[in-house]
Amino acid sequence: MVKKKILKILYKKKGMYLKEEEVTSHAGITAEELKTEIESLKSDGYLIDSSPSEGYRLVKSPNLLLPYELQRELNTEYIGRNIHYFPEVDSTNEVAKKLAEEGAVEGTLIIAESQSRGRGRHGKRWLSPEGGVWMTIILRPDIPPVKAPHLTLLTGVAVAQTLKNEFQLDVGIKWPNDILIGDKKVCGILTEAVADQGELNYVVVGIGIDLNVDLELFPPKLREGATSLQFELEKEVYGVELVQIFLKNFEDIYEKFKEDKFPEILSQWRQLSKTIGKNVEVHKRGRVVHGEAVGITKDGFLILELKDGTLRKVLSGECIHRETG
Ligand code: BTN
Repeated sequence: MVKKKILKILYKKKGMYLKEEEVTSHAGITAEELKTEIESLKSDGYLIDSSPSEGYRLVKSPNLLLPYELQRELNTEYIGRNIHYFPEVDSTNEVAKKLAEEGAVEGTLIIAESQSRGRGRHGKRWLSPEGGVWMTIILRPDIPPVKAPHLTLLTGVAVAQTLKNEFQLDVGIKWPNDILIGDKKVCGILTEAVADQGELNYVVVGIGIDLNVDLELFPPKLREGATSLQFELEKEVYGVELVQIFLKNFEDIYEKFKEDKFPEILSQWRQLSKTIGKNVEVHKRGRVVHGEAVGITKDGFLILELKDGTLRKVLSGECIHRETG
C-alpha cells in the first residue's frame, strides 16, 4: 500500500524534512503520484509540510484509528493483524458477524470512528459518536457454547488492566462487563456467540470505550453514570497507542484462556472487581434480586448473599451497585 510506505519513511524522520526523491524512490512512485498521495494523507488529517527546496516533513498525525497507524507498532501475533476500518458504520458487531460468516480469520478487528446503530446489552442502543473507540474482535475458540460468557469476563480484565496501567486511574469492573472509573462507566462489552448444533461457530466481542467523546452529547440520564478518559484526564487521549496496548493485553489473556487457565483470569477479575463487597440489585426479565455480592464462581456466576443469609448464583442480568456492604 503506497500510503503505508510513504508514512513509514516520513515517520522514520518525523519532524525532519525528507527530499522528494527519497520518498518517491522508497514508495516506488513518481513525483506527481506523491503529490496526490500527500494531498490524500492531508485530507485524512495528517499535518505534512512541503517545501519545494527541502521536500516533505510529517508534523502531526490525526487522532484517528487508521489501520496503517494501528498496525505500525502492533506487537501481537494475530489479534488485529487483519483490520476493517470505517469512518462510520452501523455497528462493528454486525459487520463482524457478516465477516465471520464469510470466513474471516480469528483475530480480525473491525473498528470505526462512529456508529450509527451501535448496540448495547439487553437490546439497548449504544451511543457511538466520534471520539470513542468502537471495535469488535472475531474469535474462533474451540470451546463449548456455555463457556462463551467467559470471553466477556476476560475482555473486561484486558480493558481494565490496560486503562489502569496506562492512566493510573481508579479503574475496575462492574459485573459482568462494565468498566468503571470511580463509579462511572467508561466502557461496555457486548459478546455475541453463534453456535450450530451445540458447536460454537464463532464469537464476536464488541468493545466500546468512551475515549474522547463529548459527554454533552449524551442524554442527561446517561451522562450521570458515564465518563470518558478525556474528562478524567483533562486532556485528549491518543487512541492508536491505547488500542495497540489493549490488543496485546487481550491476546495475552486470550492465550491464557486457550491454555485452560481461566481460574487465573478469574482471580485477576476478582482483584479488579468493583462489585464484590457491594450491595447490589440484579435485574433480569422484570425480576430483581437484592443481596450482597460476595464472590464469583469458577464459571463466572455472581454469588449473592440474600438478606436471609442464603446464597444465590446469577449468570446474567443488569447489575446496579447500591452502596458498600
Ligand atoms: C453495553 O455495556 O451495553 C455493551 C456496549 C458495547 C458497545 C460496543 S461498541 C463496538 C461494538 N459494536 C456495537 O454495536 N456494540 C459494541
